[in-house]
Amino acid sequence: MLSATGRELLGRLAGADVSPDRVLALAQSLRQEYPAELVAAALTQQALRVAATAKFSRADQMLFTRSGLEQASSEQTARHAAGRFAGALIVADLCCGIGGNLTALADARPGGVTIGVDSDPASLGFARHNAAVLAPGARLGFACADVRTVRLNRVDAVFVDPARRDAKGRLPTGRYLPALQWCLDLTATVPRVGIKAAPGLRKELVPPGWEIEFVAVGRELKEAMLWSPDLARTQTTATVLPAGDTLTCADPAARSTAPAPAPPGEYLFDPNPAVTRAGLVTKLAGLLGAWQIDPMIAFLSANEPKFTPFARTLRVIESAPWHEKRFGARLRDLGIGTADIRRRGLAGDVAQIHRRLGLRGPGAAVIVLTRVSDRPWGLICVPVTPDGPAAPDAQAQGRPGLETDQG
Ligand SMILES: C[S@@+](CC[C@H](N)C(=O)[O-])C[C@H]1O[C@@H](n2cnc3c(N)ncnc32)[C@H](O)[C@@H]1O
Repeated sequence: MLSATGRELLGRLAGADVSPDRVLALAQSLRQEYPAELVAAALTQQALRVAATAKFSRADQMLFTRSGLEQASSEQTARHAAGRFAGALIVADLCCGIGGNLTALADARPGGVTIGVDSDPASLGFARHNAAVLAPGARLGFACADVRTVRLNRVDAVFVDPARRDAKGRLPTGRYLPALQWCLDLTATVPRVGIKAAPGLRKELVPPGWEIEFVAVGRELKEAMLWSPDLARTQTTATVLPAGDTLTCADPAARSTAPAPAPPGEYLFDPNPAVTRAGLVTKLAGLLGAWQIDPMIAFLSANEPKFTPFARTLRVIESAPWHEKRFGARLRDLGIGTADIRRRGLAGDVAQIHRRLGLRGPGAAVIVLTRVSDRPWGLICVPVTPDGPAAPDAQAQGRPGLETDQG
């Protein structure tokens, strides 16, 4: 793909429909002019570019391997992480893959030097191409090597995004290549280290003095960033992109200023998953002047509407101990035909409950199945924004019966 003919062929495929029912005919005609292998690679590349638009605004100019794209940081999360390296002159991106983070690191530091290292030659070649396209003029270096063998003595800071899969597929949860401990130990050579880890990372693995930052894009939890003491700003952070709002806590064990837990009032707040994972629900409660509906449940409540980037605001229409038949009847009375069911702290098959509720009507609602003072509790709610009622959750529209259980 990096050859002149490869580029020419890719140029011809720009915007082409490479969906399964079109691709055979297209391949046949292109094989009249180009070698079959090149045609197959270019068609794959075009399909990857289409898929990559979910992560990159200029995907149509980039090159991908399939697993490189799957593992790449999106432009939004990469740009956010790169912000921490603003003052570093020479940054090494260890395990740079196809360069999602590398290009953001180079772009964020005009005049800085960014060095990409990866053991996979195809990924590295594409990282070089992608960085040249997306961060033109950046000072870049590349090394195809096992990161554990590279010397880092002239480097000011390191970003490392260890793989969560090997040649055979996904690694067991919590395993990384290279190992997380190796990444943490990088501070012995370079004090400024940022590690991208899975959002499910066990917090007890984070050494004292390091910051753990949970990053969500909208309400989707994407990653946990670990910042070494020289890059840390606090102990725990929840960040919500694209705006980059951050909720921080220097001492998660500190006493909360939130009111004591109590049953739900007129509004319910559904914290962003980054807040929940960061253990900052009581901190958010204190900021909102809201209370937890149960000490073990990550739903907050208040009698006035409040709006924050860290939670979704829901107006409560019905709040009562959960009784499936009574809730079904009430939902039918309200004409609720579309429901986004949120289950938290209660067992039960949401798809079956959804079916048994027998919903019909033009309305949409969020149904919350949870626990209050250790009793199964149900709420019928509608999302609200500062401007009035919110559009129903896009996810719920096409997929009623959505289930979450975030503790
Ligand atoms: C999660 S991906 C990196 C994605 C990258 N940050 C991006 O945004 O495009 C992990 C990469 O680590 C590389 N890798 C794993 N173990 C390695 C090692 N010991 N040395 C060098 N690279 C390694 C893999 O080849 C893979 O490209």
